[in-house]
Amino acid sequence: MPLIIKTQEINKYYNRYKADEVRALEDVTLTISQGEALVLNGASGSGKTTLLSLIGCMARPTSGSIFIQDKEVSRLPERFLTNIRRQTFGFIFQQLNLIRDISALENILLPLYPSGTSIKEMNWRAKEILTRLNILKKAHMKVSALSGGEQQRVAIARALINQPQIIIADEPTAHLDSFLAAELLQILTELNREGKTVVIATHDPFVSRHKLIDRVIRMRDGQIIGGLEP
Ligand SMILES: Nc1ncnc2c1ncn2[C@@H]1O[C@H](COP(=O)(O)OP(=O)(O)O)[C@@H](O)[C@H]1O
Ligand SMILES: [Mg+2]
Repeated sequence: MPLIIKTQEINKYYNRYKADEVRALEDVTLTISQGEALVLNGASGSGKTTLLSLIGCMARPTSGSIFIQDKEVSRLPERFLTNIRRQTFGFIFQQLNLIRDISALENILLPLYPSGTSIKEMNWRAKEILTRLNILKKAHMKVSALSGGEQQRVAIARALINQPQIIIADEPTAHLDSFLAAELLQILTELNREGKTVVIATHDPFVSRHKLIDRVIRMRDGQIIGGLEP
């Protein structure tokens, strides 16, 4: 399979040249193939979230290069980075970050407004995704009235509405009971089978050992210390 993500000796410093300088990533070189399902594993503070944020075009490395679908993104101006982020990635976080006072449908459509997608196309996509996640009947309910599992599916639907090639999930099972964790992994497995690349930061062994996962990358103190083929 062709490469979809490549990082080349990336470094990320926070608070550079200050007393509280942190080298959060140290010469990280990593290649991810299209369609791969990969876990970044490591203790808290090892750099997982930082690496996801750089891969996901939410931030830029201090040095080194990042290629997404063969395009170098590491030095792009913010507005280009934002476009690539919106077109390429779907993000699932441990906090669902939903707006509780508006409907499930409105939450799901929010990421599409800046893209200029037509109303017709928006409705078509929303219906398809809500149906597939089995929450079509809840579309017009306020998020605050939905169960935890339904809210999770709304958050997943919102991550999918831009038809991303790459799904990025940061500690997605951290607040979930085992039933919801299994459901989330099942949905990610289906998406992966359809060819989407999945990159998950987690220290949850349930995720790392799931049949979905092709490869586990271990991190410590901002470095990759080993990759394991299951
Ligand atoms: N915005 C920030 N400002 C300063 N230091 C940060 C920031 N974000 C993360 N760090 C530091 O960078 C290191 C890596 O953090 P992080 O990427 O969040 O690791 P993980 O996700 O594995 O817990 C840690 O030492 C953390 O304290
Ligand atoms: Mg983290």
